[in-house]
Order: sequence, then structure tokens, then C-alpha cells
Amino acid sequence: MSDETTSEKLTELAKRRGYFFQSSGAYGGVGGFYTFGPQGAALKGNLEDAWRERFALGEGNMEIDAPTIMPEPVFEASGHLAGFDDMLIECPECGTSTRADHLVEDNTDYEDAESLPIPEVEAVVAEYELACPECGAGLAGVAIEEFNLMFATSIGPGDSQPGYLRPETAQGIFVEFPRLKEYARNTLPFGVTQIGRAYRNEISPRRSIIRTREFTQAELELFVDPADDDPDLSAVADVPLTLYPASEQGADGSHLETTVGEAVADEVITDPWIAYFLGVSRTWYERVGVDMDRFRYRQHLAGERAHYAADCWDAESEIDGNWIEIAGFAHRGDYDLSKHGEHADERFTVFQQYDEPRTVERAVVDPEMSYLGPTFGGDAGAVVAALEELAETDPEAFDAETVTVAVGDDDHEIPVEQTGFALEEQTEAGEHVTPHVVEPSFGVDRTLYTVLHHAYSEDEVDGEERTYLALEPTVAPTFVGVFPLQRDDDLETEANTIAATLRERGLSVTYDSAGNIGRRYRRQDEVGTPFCVTVDYESLEDEAVTVRERDSTAQKRLPISDLAETFTALRSGSLSFDELEG
Ligand code: GAP
Repeated sequence: MSDETTSEKLTELAKRRGYFFQSSGAYGGVGGFYTFGPQGAALKGNLEDAWRERFALGEGNMEIDAPTIMPEPVFEASGHLAGFDDMLIECPECGTSTRADHLVEDNTDYEDAESLPIPEVEAVVAEYELACPECGAGLAGVAIEEFNLMFATSIGPGDSQPGYLRPETAQGIFVEFPRLKEYARNTLPFGVTQIGRAYRNEISPRRSIIRTREFTQAELELFVDPADDDPDLSAVADVPLTLYPASEQGADGSHLETTVGEAVADEVITDPWIAYFLGVSRTWYERVGVDMDRFRYRQHLAGERAHYAADCWDAESEIDGNWIEIAGFAHRGDYDLSKHGEHADERFTVFQQYDEPRTVERAVVDPEMSYLGPTFGGDAGAVVAALEELAETDPEAFDAETVTVAVGDDDHEIPVEQTGFALEEQTEAGEHVTPHVVEPSFGVDRTLYTVLHHAYSEDEVDGEERTYLALEPTVAPTFVGVFPLQRDDDLETEANTIAATLRERGLSVTYDSAGNIGRRYRRQDEVGTPFCVTVDYESLEDEAVTVRERDSTAQKRLPISDLAETFTALRSGSLSFDELEG
């Protein structure tokens, strides 16, 4: 076996067998953009379907499909315009831009340089005499800049308005909250999912499809009542978890083997919703083929969290000795809905009806307009609004003889007796609540990469080296290869009929009659096709075929009439090849 890393071998296999390759190769290609070939597109589709089945349908959530371009005010409100930056260091010799935190992490013992302030990163670059990865020129003393990762565009011709390609699918959900809450009949909790493209102008896209500039996210935004919407953890309490809590992330940090229930009881995971989704996602990742011995959940360090996140855990997979983030589970609090509520014209709250109407004391004002009008002229309306707001937010301000409100740059002093201030008893049916958001956010491309990397296998069959992808039948892009033993009209007719029958059942079938049967098996092994069917001369007599399983290469003889049903069961996981008689 060669010295190449699995990633290197996988990149070559992915291109040769149609999984993925760099886009626009005919024009020299451009960093950070990949095309999924026929196998890759099918695998991606299967992973998205599996995600949808579990996180949308399985949880009773609604799925939407929003545009990828959004106007500037959305990102002013969300904080992305001001804060969605990475640290950029530009080589003074060759002009190559590099992410400064990655440069530090790759060449020193620092694990989380992203959380350091820029001057500290500049100091580390100088102390370790770090150099440009492209030309080797020293970078000590070079200023590091904040670089906003959003792709800017303009919407419409002429005096077009600025827009951005969304850097996360989540914003497409948040901005539609005022309508989505109606579909949920104003009842919390409710969840909205979206699977779609996101765009980030990464400074240094790298490691194949792991860090690209256009990628697919599968996100769930769960809107919960901050007062009382805890999940029922009983269904996931026993799910095993490998955790890497923030407290363990030092020189000698170790993993904690626990369960969802124990992690909550021991307060390692403090938010029950995050615990719930770690449990659900762990089972899901295992189902789609992520190797659980190369998988963990890592808690973000305080300085590492996104601008909106109160707590965050990442799902990480091991790739050639490195841990990569494949999903984030964040508690975003009321950050997003509050911000959109402040900036937009609609309400980003839910009216929560009380079980019984409640009598509450409210501070109200009923200003004397015959005083305010002549005194404040055109400002009188604004003074009334300011008094109303002050009564609501700070009723004690009315305890004095006069009260002061600001209108524009001016402070106005008003005798309290002219404000009509009073405390009134009011009956209220409910209140407006800003929901909190719990967000499992999956990177589809990184999941796909992990599934392929963990499936990549080599062994020896009949004295020959073999490469195969041990993909789970549920997600394998091609489920079955159908072969006539050799080129012969009768065998080919029968094989084609079998292929057509299986396709009618919704299975992904490839038909191959080229080359010797061993070579055809090898081709399908490399693609990761779980099963192959060979039609031989006996098949024409006994109406049975040879079915070969990819990983074990074991073969069984099965009746043609049973194939569709058997394969459907094998694909869903309700039957295993070992259980088959034949
Ligand atoms: N809405 C939350 C959010 O976007 P994130 O951690 O920035 O959180 C979520 O992104 C997931 O998207 C990551 O865990 C990763 O799998 C994927 N992702 C982020 N940036 C990516 C990139 N440049 N290329 C490929 N996948 C990326």
C-alpha cells in the first residue's frame, strides 16, 4: 500500500469515479468551488434526504426554501456586516492572502488562535517567525486585518441596492419569522429547517471540499419559549456520547465517554435542547456511515463562539489525524429575533396566551395636550411617545415633580401633573415573547467528505489489492450493479429486465457489460456500490442470480422474483446480507 494519505487517495478516486472535482477546470479552475459529479450529487442528495427525514419530518418541523441573495439591511441587523470577519495576513513579497489564525494553529501549539485578539496573533507571528506558506517570506511585523467573508452583489440595474449572498441559510429563516409563526399557529416550540447553499469568501479555501466558498448547509432553527420549553430527553438519554468539553481542552485534555442523560445530570451539557440534538445527531451520523470511533462533540471555548451564540458544541470527525468541524449546535438566545425586531417593520415575537387572563398594574400617561402643544409645538407628538415609553420602562421616573424625556438632541422637562401619569389595573390575555433559538447547523459537504473518508478501505481479494468504499446502503449513490456474465443476447436481455424492474422500485441501478466480471466488481467496489447481481446461463434455467456483497465479497444465489423486495429491505436497513438465505 502507498504512503499517500487517505485524503490524497480519496481526492484522486473522487475525481476518477465522479464524486467531486474542482469546478471550471477548463478555465484553470478557481479555489474554493467544487462540482459534484454523478456519484457525488447522488450521495449528497441521499444525505440530504436522510437529514430531512430525521430533522424535518422526524421532528415534525417545517421546511422552507429561501433565496440565497438578501438585501443589506438583513445583514446589518444580523451582525454579519460588522462582525463576520476572519483575520487576514497578506504576504508583502508575493501578495498571497492567508488566514492568520490558521497560520498560527498550523505552525505553533496554539489550538484556538481565532479567539485571540489581533495584536496577540501579530505577536505570535513575530515570536515564532512565521512565514508565508506560498513563498516562505517572513511575516513578522506584517499587520493583520479583519476581512469580511460575505460576497457582495448589487440587486437590479441603475441605482441598484446592495445585497449579499447569504453566509448561512439561517438568515432566510429568521427574516420570515413573522409569517412562519402564523403557519405554526403562534405556538412554541416550533422548528423550521432549510437545506441550501451558503457562501463565504474564505481567505484560504483548503482541504478539498472541507473549506469551500460555496457549500450546502442543512439547518434547523428551533424557536422555543425561554420560560418553559424543555425537551423530553427520555428518547435520547441512553445515547452514548464522546465529549470534549471546554474544561478539558488544554495540553492534557481528554475525552469524556458518557451518555446524553449523564451529561445533563452532571451539567457537562447545560442546555437540555443542545443535549437532545447531540443525542439525535449522534444516532443519525452513525446511520449515514460516520465511524463513531472517529467522532466527537467539542464544546466551543468562550472566545471562539460566533457573535450570536450563547453556548455551542461542534460535531467533529477525524480526518487523517485532524479533527474537523462538521456541524455546530448553538444556543443563539433571542439574539436574531431581537435584532430583526429592532431593524425591521414587523413583530418578531409570539403572542403567548395565558391559561387564565391576568390582572396587572400598568403605568400609563394621558398627557395634557393644551399644555404640550403650545410648549413643544412640532415636537409635541414625539414628546408624548417618549413619555409613553418612559412610563412603560421606568415608571419611578414619574415620582418627582418633573420628568425629563429626550427628543432628538433635546432634553425636555415636563411637570408630572401635565403627563396624566397613573397606575392602572389592566386585564391581559397573554404577552408578547421573543422566542429563543436552538440551532443544529450541519455542513452537508463536510458530512459527505467524512462519510467517504471513513468508508475508504483497502484489502486484498484473490491476491489482488482492492480499494472499496464501505458506504452504508442507505446513502450509497449507486445501490446495485447488474451484469450479464458475458456479452450474449439472452443474458443481456435478462439483465436489462432485472435492472428495469429494480429501477421501477426506486433503486439506483448501474448496468455494466464491459470487461471481465472481476474488473466490473472492482469498478463498483471503488464507487461504493453495496451489491452486484450477475446473470449467468444457469439464471436462464433456474430464474436465480448471484448476488455479491461489496465488503465481504460473499456471494449468494437468490431468486430473481425476490430481488426487488430483498434490495428494498437491504437499503432501508431492515435486513442484512448475513440474514439472507442463499
Ligand atoms: N448558522 C450557523 C452556522 O452557519 P457555522 O459553524 O459557521 O454555523 C455550520 O457553519 C456548518 O457549515 C459547519 O459546521 C460546517 O460543516 C459548514 N461550513 C461552514 N463553513 C464552511 C466552508 N467554508 N466550507 C464548507 N463547509 C462549511
